[in-house]
Amino acid sequence: MNHDRGVISRYREYLPVSEATPVVSLNEGSTPLVHAPRLSEKVGRGCQVFVKYEGLNPTCSFKDRGMTMAISKAAENGVKAVICASTGNTSASAAAYASRAGMDCVVILPAGKIAMGKLAQALVYGAKVVEIDGNFDDALRLVREIGEMESFEVVNSINPYRIEGQKTAAFEIIDVLGEAPDFHLLPVGNAGNITAYWKGYGEYHAKGKSKRLPKMLGFQAAGSAPLYHGAPVANPETVATAIRIGNPASWDGAMTAIQDSGGHLDIVTDEEILAGQRWLASNEGLFIEPASAASIAGLCKCLEMEDGPLAGVEPGSTLVCTVTGHGLKDSDIILQAEFPMFKAKTDKADVLNQLGLS
Ligand code: F0G
Repeated sequence: MNHDRGVISRYREYLPVSEATPVVSLNEGSTPLVHAPRLSEKVGRGCQVFVKYEGLNPTCSFKDRGMTMAISKAAENGVKAVICASTGNTSASAAAYASRAGMDCVVILPAGKIAMGKLAQALVYGAKVVEIDGNFDDALRLVREIGEMESFEVVNSINPYRIEGQKTAAFEIIDVLGEAPDFHLLPVGNAGNITAYWKGYGEYHAKGKSKRLPKMLGFQAAGSAPLYHGAPVANPETVATAIRIGNPASWDGAMTAIQDSGGHLDIVTDEEILAGQRWLASNEGLFIEPASAASIAGLCKCLEMEDGPLAGVEPGSTLVCTVTGHGLKDSDIILQAEFPMFKAKTDKADVLNQLGLS
Protein backbone atom coordinates (compact mmCIF):
# COMPACT_ATOMS: atom_id res chain seq x y z
CA MET A 1 0.00 0.00 0.00
CA ASN A 2 1.13 3.48 -0.82
CA HIS A 3 1.36 5.87 2.14
CA ASP A 4 0.50 8.80 -0.04
CA ARG A 5 -0.74 10.91 2.84
CA GLY A 6 2.35 10.81 5.06
CA VAL A 7 5.01 13.52 5.08
CA ILE A 8 7.67 11.42 3.33
CA SER A 9 5.57 10.72 0.33
CA ARG A 10 4.25 14.27 0.09
CA TYR A 11 7.63 15.98 0.53
CA ARG A 12 9.96 13.29 -0.79
CA GLU A 13 12.04 15.68 -2.91
CA TYR A 14 12.94 17.72 0.18
CA LEU A 15 13.90 14.74 2.34
CA PRO A 16 16.99 12.47 2.41
CA VAL A 17 15.15 9.34 1.24
CA SER A 18 15.57 7.15 -1.81
CA GLU A 19 13.91 4.19 -3.49
CA ALA A 20 15.80 2.05 -0.98
CA THR A 21 14.06 3.66 2.00
CA PRO A 22 11.13 1.61 3.30
CA VAL A 23 8.55 4.23 4.28
CA VAL A 24 7.24 3.63 7.79
CA SER A 25 4.26 5.92 8.05
CA LEU A 26 1.01 6.32 9.94
CA ASN A 27 -0.21 9.03 7.55
CA GLU A 28 1.18 11.77 9.79
CA GLY A 29 1.10 15.47 8.88
CA SER A 30 -1.54 17.40 6.93
CA THR A 31 -2.70 18.81 10.25
CA PRO A 32 -5.26 21.63 10.15
CA LEU A 33 -4.14 25.24 10.09
CA VAL A 34 -7.12 26.57 11.99
CA HIS A 35 -8.04 30.24 11.69
CA ALA A 36 -8.50 31.73 15.18
CA PRO A 37 -10.94 34.67 14.97
CA ARG A 38 -10.82 35.62 18.66
CA LEU A 39 -7.04 35.49 18.83
CA SER A 40 -6.95 37.60 15.65
CA GLU A 41 -9.22 40.13 17.35
CA LYS A 42 -6.84 40.27 20.32
CA VAL A 43 -3.96 41.14 17.99
CA GLY A 44 -6.11 43.70 16.17
CA ARG A 45 -5.08 45.84 13.15
CA GLY A 46 -6.69 43.37 10.78
CA CYS A 47 -4.04 40.75 11.61
CA GLN A 48 -4.91 37.07 11.15
CA VAL A 49 -3.83 34.37 13.59
CA PHE A 50 -3.76 30.70 12.61
CA VAL A 51 -3.15 27.72 14.88
CA LYS A 52 -1.22 24.75 13.50
CA TYR A 53 -3.00 21.98 15.38
CA GLU A 54 -0.33 19.30 15.67
CA GLY A 55 -2.32 17.32 18.24
CA LEU A 56 -4.15 15.80 15.28
CA ASN A 57 -1.18 13.70 14.24
CA PRO A 58 -1.47 9.88 14.66
CA THR A 59 0.00 9.85 18.18
CA CYS A 60 -1.43 13.29 18.91
CA SER A 61 1.76 15.36 18.78
CA PHE A 62 4.13 16.90 16.20
CA LYS A 63 6.73 14.22 16.97
CA ASP A 64 5.25 11.90 14.33
CA ARG A 65 6.65 14.05 11.50
CA GLY A 66 10.21 13.43 12.62
CA MET A 67 9.57 9.88 13.74
CA THR A 68 8.41 8.66 10.32
CA MET A 69 11.80 9.82 8.99
CA ALA A 70 13.91 8.47 11.87
CA ILE A 71 12.24 5.05 11.83
CA SER A 72 12.18 4.78 8.03
CA LYS A 73 15.93 5.51 7.87
CA ALA A 74 16.54 3.09 10.73
CA ALA A 75 14.63 0.42 8.78
CA GLU A 76 16.71 1.19 5.69
CA ASN A 77 19.85 0.64 7.75
CA GLY A 78 18.63 -2.67 9.15
CA VAL A 79 18.21 -1.38 12.71
CA LYS A 80 16.37 -3.78 15.03
CA ALA A 81 15.95 -1.62 18.15
CA VAL A 82 15.54 2.08 18.89
CA ILE A 83 15.90 4.09 22.07
CA CYS A 84 14.93 7.56 23.21
CA ALA A 85 14.70 9.81 26.24
CA SER A 86 11.47 11.68 26.54
CA THR A 87 9.17 13.96 28.44
CA GLY A 88 6.40 11.80 26.96
CA ASN A 89 5.53 12.66 23.38
CA THR A 90 8.71 11.44 21.71
CA SER A 91 8.35 8.13 23.54
CA ALA A 92 4.73 7.73 22.42
CA SER A 93 5.68 8.43 18.83
CA ALA A 94 8.83 6.26 18.84
CA ALA A 95 6.87 3.38 20.34
CA ALA A 96 4.13 3.64 17.70
CA TYR A 97 6.45 3.85 14.69
CA ALA A 98 8.75 1.13 16.07
CA SER A 99 5.77 -1.17 16.48
CA ARG A 100 4.76 -0.42 12.90
CA ALA A 101 8.30 -1.24 11.72
CA GLY A 102 8.58 -4.39 13.83
CA MET A 103 11.44 -2.95 15.90
CA ASP A 104 12.01 -3.06 19.63
CA CYS A 105 11.74 0.26 21.42
CA VAL A 106 13.21 1.34 24.76
CA VAL A 107 12.13 4.65 26.29
CA ILE A 108 13.78 6.34 29.26
CA LEU A 109 11.50 8.68 31.16
CA PRO A 110 11.72 10.91 34.23
CA ALA A 111 9.62 9.04 36.83
CA GLY A 112 6.45 10.82 37.89
CA LYS A 113 6.84 13.64 35.38
CA ILE A 114 5.09 12.16 32.35
CA ALA A 115 1.44 12.94 31.58
CA MET A 116 -0.64 9.76 31.97
CA GLY A 117 -1.92 9.71 28.39
CA LYS A 118 1.63 9.66 27.04
CA LEU A 119 2.75 6.89 29.38
CA ALA A 120 -0.31 4.85 28.39
CA GLN A 121 0.64 5.29 24.74
CA ALA A 122 4.23 4.07 25.19
CA LEU A 123 2.97 1.03 27.11
CA VAL A 124 0.21 0.00 24.72
CA TYR A 125 2.40 0.34 21.62
CA GLY A 126 4.71 -2.16 23.31
CA ALA A 127 7.77 -0.12 24.28
CA LYS A 128 10.00 -1.18 27.15
CA VAL A 129 9.55 1.71 29.56
CA VAL A 130 12.36 2.61 31.95
CA GLU A 131 11.57 5.25 34.56
CA ILE A 132 14.56 6.95 36.13
CA ASP A 133 14.92 8.95 39.28
CA GLY A 134 16.11 11.98 37.34
CA ASN A 135 14.94 14.51 34.77
CA PHE A 136 14.86 14.56 30.95
CA ASP A 137 18.45 15.81 30.75
CA ASP A 138 19.64 12.81 32.79
CA ALA A 139 17.59 10.51 30.54
CA LEU A 140 19.10 11.99 27.38
CA ARG A 141 22.62 11.60 28.78
CA LEU A 142 21.91 7.92 29.41
CA VAL A 143 20.48 7.49 25.93
CA ARG A 144 23.57 9.07 24.35
CA GLU A 145 25.73 6.59 26.30
CA ILE A 146 23.59 3.55 25.46
CA GLY A 147 23.25 4.72 21.84
CA GLU A 148 26.98 4.28 21.39
CA MET A 149 26.31 0.56 21.56
CA GLU A 150 25.62 -0.63 18.05
CA SER A 151 22.45 -2.44 18.92
CA PHE A 152 20.41 0.73 19.49
CA GLU A 153 19.55 3.61 17.18
CA VAL A 154 18.83 6.86 19.03
CA VAL A 155 15.61 8.52 17.82
CA ASN A 156 15.78 11.71 19.85
CA SER A 157 16.20 14.88 17.80
CA ILE A 158 19.99 14.52 18.03
CA ASN A 159 19.17 12.10 15.20
CA PRO A 160 19.23 14.52 12.22
CA TYR A 161 16.42 12.68 10.40
CA ARG A 162 14.02 13.84 13.10
CA ILE A 163 14.64 17.50 12.23
CA GLU A 164 14.28 16.67 8.53
CA GLY A 165 10.81 15.24 9.08
CA GLN A 166 9.69 17.99 11.41
CA LYS A 167 10.56 20.74 8.91
CA THR A 168 7.58 19.57 6.80
CA ALA A 169 5.24 21.50 9.13
CA ALA A 170 6.68 24.75 7.72
CA PHE A 171 6.08 23.46 4.17
CA GLU A 172 2.45 22.71 4.97
CA ILE A 173 1.90 26.21 6.35
CA ILE A 174 3.26 27.83 3.19
CA ASP A 175 1.29 25.39 1.02
CA VAL A 176 -1.93 26.46 2.77
CA LEU A 177 -1.29 30.20 3.11
CA GLY A 178 0.52 30.61 -0.21
CA GLU A 179 3.24 32.53 1.66
CA ALA A 180 5.19 32.28 4.91
CA PRO A 181 3.56 34.03 7.89
CA ASP A 182 5.07 37.24 9.22
CA PHE A 183 5.49 35.70 12.67
CA HIS A 184 5.74 32.11 13.82
CA LEU A 185 5.28 31.41 17.54
CA LEU A 186 6.06 28.11 19.23
CA PRO A 187 7.03 26.48 22.52
CA VAL A 188 10.69 25.59 23.03
CA GLY A 189 11.89 22.62 25.06
CA ASN A 190 14.71 20.53 23.64
CA ALA A 191 14.68 23.08 20.79
CA GLY A 192 14.45 20.65 17.87
CA ASN A 193 11.14 21.97 16.59
CA ILE A 194 12.10 25.63 16.27
CA THR A 195 15.30 24.47 14.54
CA ALA A 196 13.24 22.32 12.15
CA TYR A 197 10.70 25.03 11.29
CA TRP A 198 13.48 27.50 10.50
CA LYS A 199 15.13 24.92 8.23
CA GLY A 200 11.82 24.24 6.49
CA TYR A 201 11.04 27.91 5.95
CA GLY A 202 14.57 28.47 4.62
CA GLU A 203 14.38 25.58 2.16
CA TYR A 204 10.98 26.57 0.76
CA HIS A 205 12.16 30.17 0.46
CA ALA A 206 15.27 29.08 -1.42
CA LYS A 207 13.03 27.14 -3.85
CA GLY A 208 10.92 30.24 -4.46
CA LYS A 209 7.86 28.84 -2.71
CA SER A 210 7.70 31.91 -0.43
CA LYS A 211 8.94 35.45 -0.77
CA ARG A 212 9.59 36.09 2.88
CA LEU A 213 10.82 34.36 6.02
CA PRO A 214 8.90 34.63 9.29
CA LYS A 215 10.23 36.10 12.49
CA MET A 216 10.56 33.14 14.86
CA LEU A 217 9.23 33.74 18.38
CA GLY A 218 10.13 30.99 20.86
CA PHE A 219 8.72 30.58 24.37
CA GLN A 220 10.17 28.61 27.27
CA ALA A 221 8.50 27.88 30.59
CA ALA A 222 9.85 30.33 33.19
CA GLY A 223 11.13 27.53 35.45
CA SER A 224 12.83 25.72 32.56
CA ALA A 225 14.38 28.49 30.52
CA PRO A 226 18.05 27.74 29.83
CA LEU A 227 18.11 29.51 26.46
CA TYR A 228 16.53 32.61 27.93
CA HIS A 229 19.04 32.70 30.81
CA GLY A 230 21.96 31.71 28.60
CA ALA A 231 22.97 28.77 30.81
CA PRO A 232 21.73 25.24 31.55
CA VAL A 233 19.19 24.93 34.37
CA ALA A 234 20.08 22.13 36.82
CA ASN A 235 16.59 21.51 38.20
CA PRO A 236 14.01 22.60 35.63
CA GLU A 237 10.43 22.82 36.85
CA THR A 238 7.15 23.60 35.14
CA VAL A 239 3.59 22.37 35.01
CA ALA A 240 4.20 21.94 31.26
CA THR A 241 6.09 18.66 31.75
CA ALA A 242 6.72 18.26 28.00
CA ILE A 243 9.14 21.21 28.08
CA ARG A 244 10.65 20.53 31.51
CA ILE A 245 14.19 20.57 30.10
CA GLY A 246 17.31 22.24 31.46
CA ASN A 247 19.89 21.66 28.74
CA PRO A 248 18.38 21.53 25.24
CA ALA A 249 20.12 19.41 22.60
CA SER A 250 19.38 21.84 19.74
CA TRP A 251 20.55 24.93 21.64
CA ASP A 252 22.49 26.41 18.71
CA GLY A 253 19.77 25.68 16.18
CA ALA A 254 17.22 27.54 18.26
CA MET A 255 19.45 30.57 18.79
CA THR A 256 20.25 30.70 15.07
CA ALA A 257 16.54 30.60 14.18
CA ILE A 258 15.74 33.42 16.59
CA GLN A 259 18.72 35.60 15.68
CA ASP A 260 18.72 35.09 11.91
CA SER A 261 14.97 35.68 11.63
CA GLY A 262 15.07 38.82 13.76
CA GLY A 263 12.82 36.97 16.19
CA HIS A 264 12.43 36.88 19.92
CA LEU A 265 12.90 34.46 22.82
CA ASP A 266 10.84 34.86 25.96
CA ILE A 267 9.49 33.06 29.02
CA VAL A 268 5.96 32.39 30.20
CA THR A 269 4.97 31.44 33.74
CA ASP A 270 2.98 28.33 34.64
CA GLU A 271 -0.01 30.56 35.41
CA GLU A 272 0.22 32.15 31.97
CA ILE A 273 0.55 28.71 30.34
CA LEU A 274 -2.55 27.32 32.08
CA ALA A 275 -4.50 30.49 31.36
CA GLY A 276 -3.51 30.25 27.68
CA GLN A 277 -4.59 26.60 27.57
CA ARG A 278 -8.03 27.41 29.02
CA TRP A 279 -8.44 30.50 26.89
CA LEU A 280 -7.82 28.62 23.64
CA ALA A 281 -10.20 25.83 24.64
CA SER A 282 -13.01 28.08 25.80
CA ASN A 283 -12.66 30.74 23.10
CA GLU A 284 -11.52 28.86 20.00
CA GLY A 285 -12.60 25.27 20.73
CA LEU A 286 -9.07 23.87 20.64
CA PHE A 287 -7.88 21.66 23.53
CA ILE A 288 -4.10 21.54 23.71
CA GLU A 289 -1.65 20.31 26.29
CA PRO A 290 0.08 22.78 28.65
CA ALA A 291 3.43 22.88 26.80
CA SER A 292 1.61 23.75 23.59
CA ALA A 293 -0.06 26.66 25.33
CA ALA A 294 3.34 28.34 25.72
CA SER A 295 2.86 29.72 22.20
CA ILE A 296 -0.57 31.13 23.07
CA ALA A 297 0.64 32.52 26.40
CA GLY A 298 3.64 33.95 24.58
CA LEU A 299 1.43 35.70 22.06
CA CYS A 300 -0.64 37.24 24.86
CA LYS A 301 2.51 38.34 26.67
CA CYS A 302 3.98 39.96 23.56
CA LEU A 303 0.74 41.88 22.98
CA GLU A 304 1.12 43.45 26.43
CA MET A 305 4.75 44.49 25.91
CA GLU A 306 5.34 48.09 24.92
CA ASP A 307 8.48 47.45 22.93
CA GLY A 308 8.14 43.71 22.35
CA PRO A 309 8.33 41.92 18.99
CA LEU A 310 4.65 42.62 18.23
CA ALA A 311 4.66 46.30 19.16
CA GLY A 312 3.83 48.22 16.01
CA VAL A 313 2.95 45.03 14.13
CA GLU A 314 2.10 45.90 10.51
CA PRO A 315 -1.65 45.95 9.83
CA GLY A 316 -2.84 42.79 8.10
CA SER A 317 0.09 40.65 9.31
CA THR A 318 -0.23 36.88 9.50
CA LEU A 319 0.76 35.00 12.66
CA VAL A 320 0.96 31.24 13.11
CA CYS A 321 1.07 29.59 16.54
CA THR A 322 2.14 25.96 16.58
CA VAL A 323 0.29 24.00 19.23
CA THR A 324 2.31 20.86 19.56
CA GLY A 325 0.23 18.25 21.40
CA HIS A 326 -3.37 17.27 22.13
CA GLY A 327 -4.97 18.29 25.42
CA LEU A 328 -6.31 14.81 26.14
CA LYS A 329 -2.77 13.55 26.72
CA ASP A 330 -2.78 15.38 30.03
CA SER A 331 -6.40 15.54 31.14
CA ASP A 332 -5.27 15.20 34.79
CA ILE A 333 -4.12 18.78 34.79
CA ILE A 334 -7.66 19.92 33.95
CA LEU A 335 -9.40 17.60 36.38
CA GLN A 336 -7.09 18.67 39.23
CA ALA A 337 -8.08 22.29 38.69
CA GLU A 338 -11.21 23.82 40.14
CA PHE A 339 -13.86 23.87 37.47
CA PRO A 340 -17.44 24.24 38.66
CA MET A 341 -19.52 21.08 38.39
CA PHE A 342 -23.12 20.45 39.34
CA LYS A 343 -24.65 17.44 41.04
CA ALA A 344 -28.30 16.66 40.64
CA LYS A 345 -30.87 13.99 41.33
CA THR A 346 -32.26 12.11 38.34
CA ASP A 347 -35.14 14.45 37.89
CA LYS A 348 -35.60 17.36 35.55
CA ALA A 349 -36.64 19.89 38.18
CA ASP A 350 -33.49 19.28 40.20
CA VAL A 351 -31.20 19.53 37.16
CA LEU A 352 -32.75 22.89 36.26
CA ASN A 353 -32.60 23.96 39.88
CA GLN A 354 -28.91 23.14 40.22
CA LEU A 355 -28.25 25.08 37.02
CA GLY A 356 -30.09 28.04 38.49
CA LEU A 357 -32.76 27.81 35.78
CA SER A 358 -35.83 27.06 37.83
N1 F0G B 1 5.47 20.74 22.98
C1 F0G B 1 5.32 19.45 23.28
C2 F0G B 1 3.92 18.94 23.46
C3 F0G B 1 6.44 18.60 23.40
O1 F0G B 1 6.26 17.31 23.69
C4 F0G B 1 7.73 19.14 23.23
C5 F0G B 1 8.92 18.32 23.38
C6 F0G B 1 7.83 20.50 22.91
C7 F0G B 1 6.69 21.27 22.80
C8 F0G B 1 9.13 21.17 22.67
O2 F0G B 1 9.66 20.82 21.44
O3 F0G B 1 11.76 19.86 22.26
O4 F0G B 1 11.45 20.40 19.85
O5 F0G B 1 11.68 22.23 21.53
N2 F0G B 1 8.89 17.12 23.80
C9 F0G B 1 10.03 16.21 23.85
C10 F0G B 1 9.58 14.82 24.23
C11 F0G B 1 11.18 16.71 24.61
O6 F0G B 1 10.37 14.04 24.77
O7 F0G B 1 8.44 14.47 23.93
P1 F0G B 1 11.25 20.82 21.25
